Amino acid sequence: MGLVQCCDFPHLSDERGSLVALEANKTIPFEIKRVYYIYHTEQGVSRGYHAHKDLKQVAICVAGSCRIVLDDGHTRKETWLDCPTRGLLIESMIWREMHDLSEDCVLLVLASEHYDERDYIRNYEDFLKLSHNAHNTSSR
Ligand code: TYD
Repeated sequence: MGLVQCCDFPHLSDERGSLVALEANKTIPFEIKRVYYIYHTEQGVSRGYHAHKDLKQVAICVAGSCRIVLDDGHTRKETWLDCPTRGLLIESMIWREMHDLSEDCVLLVLASEHYDERDYIRNYEDFLKLSHNAHNTSSR
């Protein structure tokens, strides 16, 4: 599975505009336990800089645009989110950074678990150690 896993959501569009419906375990590949959104980001500010041990997330830029960097401890890739019908799946143990959030950016995030600070890995060196350990254990 690639590092950048995007999903184009079906949308209902007519002369009035557009609508996207997201359903747990259907369009979104997990039970959604939490939803949050990031908006009014100060220009030039980057966010993220962490990974999660277990949490899975889908990020959707419902307005504006942003650049997301994903890193699995071996490979670093980036993608732009600028479309309300496109979701980016961020699996567990993926380091993420959000850059270049436009003034009007609203980044909606659907999460598989409730908020738990203990699930965060906020130090990149710790993330690399944990991800390399996990890789070595699974390939043994
Ligand atoms: P954080 O996940 O570090 O944001 P970002 O990755 O966008 O920089 O969260 C910022 C702060 O908000 C941090 O103190 C934790 C808190 N927070 C919650 O209380 N609940 C939540 O669901 C989230 C995502 C963050």
